[in-house]
Amino acid sequence: MAQEQPDVAVTGATGALGGAVARLLVGAGVNQRLLARHTARLPELPGTPVYAAAYSDREHAARALRGVKTLFMVSAAESTYRRQDQRTFVDAAVEAGVQHIVYTSFMGAAPDAVFTLARDHADTEEYIRSRGLAFTFLRDCLYQDVLPTFVGRDGVLRGPAGDGRLAAVARADVARCAARILTAPQEHTGAVYTLTGPQALSFEEIAGILTRVGGSKVSYRNETLEEARESRSLSGVGQWQIDAWVSTYTAIAAGQMAEVSGDVERITGIPPVGLEDYLRHR
Ligand SMILES: NC(=O)c1ccc[n+]([C@@H]2O[C@H](COP(=O)([O-])OP(=O)(O)OC[C@H]3O[C@@H](n4cnc5c(N)ncnc54)[C@H](OP(=O)(O)O)[C@@H]3O)[C@@H](O)[C@H]2O)c1
Repeated sequence: MAQEQPDVAVTGATGALGGAVARLLVGAGVNQRLLARHTARLPELPGTPVYAAAYSDREHAARALRGVKTLFMVSAAESTYRRQDQRTFVDAAVEAGVQHIVYTSFMGAAPDAVFTLARDHADTEEYIRSRGLAFTFLRDCLYQDVLPTFVGRDGVLRGPAGDGRLAAVARADVARCAARILTAPQEHTGAVYTLTGPQALSFEEIAGILTRVGGSKVSYRNETLEEARESRSLSGVGQWQIDAWVSTYTAIAAGQMAEVSGDVERITGIPPVGLEDYLRHR
């Protein structure tokens, strides 16, 4: 008897978001398979087959995706070749006969977005549209989860964000949205969701929350562009990475991460968690 083919493939499951989605899909009884560059790092989930595949390897990826109807495609790690790798993976999905891609994009994805990494996401969104399969784009705001890592060892949260506001979303809320969509993808065909938290906070307010929750003083320092570039270039990383880091803040200054959307609640039926609640209960 032919084995039943999984409806859904999940990538990025060695990581935080893909792993959370895969676990939620087990709970929801969705037939899934996991794809990863290093399968040994995948969580062990009952009844869940695993396949080795990198986004850059079209042949392996197409083989790994055969029989899959819906692909949950977690965006790859940031790099200068991410756009090309993601295009290759989309090609593999088309070749394998995947019908629907649910892709984790970024809020305000556009070729001229201030946040340079949101331009990569616009490229992938556009490429998926051009290949003619069904899609759903999850345009995530910055994760609440990463904000504590923005604080320097000196307790200073520094960046050229001015008094711009940020509607950061908990990664767990993104995972819940993705899992809900993957249980009934056809209801979300062509949808472009903006996933945010329940409020847009200034960095002064974020520093206040981090201070209250963490117990040690965090302050915000609004850097000039020059200071921001200089403080980040000390780490010896590539210019594209410095541009990405700095433009996270300038995009916030420009208001490009300030929209509070109701999409998390519309998709899951539950309002998104706020930053302070998230940090207290994570
Ligand atoms: N909105 C935000 O604030 C924010 C912040 C950070 C990142 N992101 C984006 O959101 C994605 C998911 O976030 P996360 O927190 O779950 O990140 P994470 O924990 O670092 O996980 C990333 C996952 O993507 C996989 N991956 C990366 N590059 C790949 C490639 N070229 N081919 C195949 N798989 C690849 C990794 O696999 P391996 O185990 O093989 O490395 C890992 O499973 C990230 O990859 C990044 O694009 C968004």
